[in-house]
Amino acid sequence: MSTLVTGIGELVTNDPALGPGPLGIVTGAALVVDGGRVVWVGPAAAAPAADDRVDLDGRAVLPGFVDSHTHLVFAGDRSAEFEARMSGVPYDGGGITSTVAATRAADDDLLRSRLRAVVAEMRAQGTTTVEVKSGYGLSVAEEARALRIAREVTGETTFLGAHVVPPEFAGRVEEYVALVTGPMLAACAPFARWVDVFCEPASPHAFDGEASRAVLEAGRAAGLGLRVHGNQLGPGPGVRLAVELGAASVDHCTYLADADVDALAAGATVATLLPGVEFSTRSPYPDARRLLDAGVTVALATDCNPGTCFSSSMPLCVALAVREMRMTPAEAVWAATAGGAAALHREDVGQLRVGARADLSVLDAPSYRHLAYRPGVPLVRSLPPGDRSSASGVIGLTLER
Ligand code: NIG
Ligand code: FE
Repeated sequence: MSTLVTGIGELVTNDPALGPGPLGIVTGAALVVDGGRVVWVGPAAAAPAADDRVDLDGRAVLPGFVDSHTHLVFAGDRSAEFEARMSGVPYDGGGITSTVAATRAADDDLLRSRLRAVVAEMRAQGTTTVEVKSGYGLSVAEEARALRIAREVTGETTFLGAHVVPPEFAGRVEEYVALVTGPMLAACAPFARWVDVFCEPASPHAFDGEASRAVLEAGRAAGLGLRVHGNQLGPGPGVRLAVELGAASVDHCTYLADADVDALAAGATVATLLPGVEFSTRSPYPDARRLLDAGVTVALATDCNPGTCFSSSMPLCVALAVREMRMTPAEAVWAATAGGAAALHREDVGQLRVGARADLSVLDAPSYRHLAYRPGVPLVRSLPPGDRSSASGVIGLTLER
């Protein structure tokens, strides 16, 4: 059954062939959706007939946000750590082990219901594709469990056994890396698309360049794509390692040397910026302008996790990117949609052109600019029940229910 979505005041397609700018804007637009895919896009006046019709009354529509970096399988609470940080205690990754203890103690149903609750928050804020990492289990069985549960909500799952060295391996980093690259990877690879590592010599808990390389190379040999947490807490080898190994994305990028920017500009690795982390840790924001001006592909993601940023809001990331990192509203919206898709090597999401998934974010606003202009306002509109039933099964979502 086809549905005509019309009355779109401003449509962000992210396809420059369809309209001006990198956002490929079409004003007074319509699109036709069939079988969860976009089958027609253009001016409303030229739209073909369809079986069903939804009129958006001048609202803006953009591709659903692609949140390419989250850690959502966890239990416990770290709000006291956040409170301490707000009065000056710096973040060094040490709090991760408290989440590991709480997560190991939780049963599957608790982890599943907390995961689903955050995913529901994301959907309500316009996110239609989400990547989810493991990394709070840190044993063979616990990492595999986290990925199995993450797989219930998304195909974009990432094995992050190399998040920190767990307490039972204190002082035995090499043995832990052998576990991660051996039995843990073997148990986790069937449930993962990606492998990631917290490459951060500035943290006493994370991994140096050599250990990170071992993790990434083992992941690649097991058929996984590569992602890296790099240069979050200080300068380090993460960014250049990610580019050298052809990682899809290197995330954080807060402390960059000229050589890091040059490597990113010459390579194919996306730089994923996570401004909610700097907001929630009182850290300096990454220099997005330096990356954009060098021609680097930039994505925005939430990094939603209990330690450095417990926000599920891509609109917040867009607003922070504009206000604090001097990205234009158009650059920020592109980075939160097409940029996230590039960071996940996805061509079916992050844009609204014929053949793409019909993952639409409808704003209760006339323009995408309102995402930055009206920070904190819940602009993503849920279709009213009548519209929702007529559109259900038509406006597709990568997230499963
Ligand atoms: O991306 N930096 C490493 N990992 C997460 C934080 C995890 C935590 O503190 O629980 C991040 O910021
Ligand atoms: Fe992270």
